[in-house]
Amino acid sequence: MPGAARSGDVVVRCLPTLEALSRAAAAEFARLAAAGVGAHGHFKVALTGGSTPRRLYELLAQPSLRRQVPWDRVEIFWGDERAVPPGHPQSNYRMAHEALLHAVEVDPARVHRMPAERADLDAAAREYQAEMARACGVDPGGPPPRLDLVLLGMGADGHVASLFPGTAALAEVVRWVVGNDVPQLAARRMTVTLPLLNRAAHVVFVVAGAAKAEALGTVLDEERADSLPAGRVRPSDGSVVWLVDRAAARLTPFGADA
Ligand code: 6PG
Repeated sequence: MPGAARSGDVVVRCLPTLEALSRAAAAEFARLAAAGVGAHGHFKVALTGGSTPRRLYELLAQPSLRRQVPWDRVEIFWGDERAVPPGHPQSNYRMAHEALLHAVEVDPARVHRMPAERADLDAAAREYQAEMARACGVDPGGPPPRLDLVLLGMGADGHVASLFPGTAALAEVVRWVVGNDVPQLAARRMTVTLPLLNRAAHVVFVVAGAAKAEALGTVLDEERADSLPAGRVRPSDGSVVWLVDRAAARLTPFGADA
C-alpha cells in the first residue's frame, strides 16, 4: 500500500485530509471486494457507523468506483447500531443507505440491518447472530464467520464499534453480537464483539480529526495498545490497516508521512 508504514503487524497510512483518507478507504474497499469475489465468489463486509465513513460511502456510490465492485455478490452487515429505528437521524443504517446503498445494485436480501430498536435487545442480538450465520453458511453456535472486510471507526475514548471502555460487551469471549449498555452515553447499542472482529480477513480503520489523537497515539503504541478497545482488534489471521489523517496522527510517528 503506497505511503504506508508499519507498527508491528499493523499498517498505518497517514493522509493529509479526510477527503484523501476517504478516497484511499474507498479504493481499498473496491480492491478487497474484487479480490474477495474473485477468490471465493462473494464479499462479506461489516460497515461502520459514525460520521467519518460517510464520505467514503459517497465515493463508493459514484460511477468510477461503483463499477469496480460486483455489488450483486456483496453481503452487508453492520459493526454496531444505535437503539433507534432505521429512519432515525442517528441510525447507522440510515446513514449508509443515504450515502451508498440507495445507489448500488446490492440484493436487499443481502443487506443485514441490525434491529437495535427492539425492546429486547439481547434477543435481537441473538437473532442477528443467527442471521449472520445463515448468510455466511456457518454454525450459529460455533466460532464467528470470517468476514472479508470489517470497516471500523474509533471514538476519542478508544471505543470501536460499540465496544466502549469498561462496558460488558468488551469482555464477551463467545458471542459474535450482543446488546450493550453504554453508561457514558446513557444509551444502549447493538454491537459485534472482539471474537468476531478478530476473525476477520481484513480490518480497515478510518480515523480523522485532532480529537482522536490521544487515543490513536495509545493504540498504535504496542506497549499501551491493549489499554483501549481499538487496540485489542488484532485478527488472528488477518490484516489491520489504519487510514488516518494528519490531525489524528499528530501524536504518532506517522503524522509526518502525509
Ligand atoms: C457508531 C460507530 C462508532 C464510531 C465512532 C467514531 O455507531 O458511533 O460505529 O464506533 O465509529 O464513534 O465516530 P465518528 O466517526 O463520528 O468520530
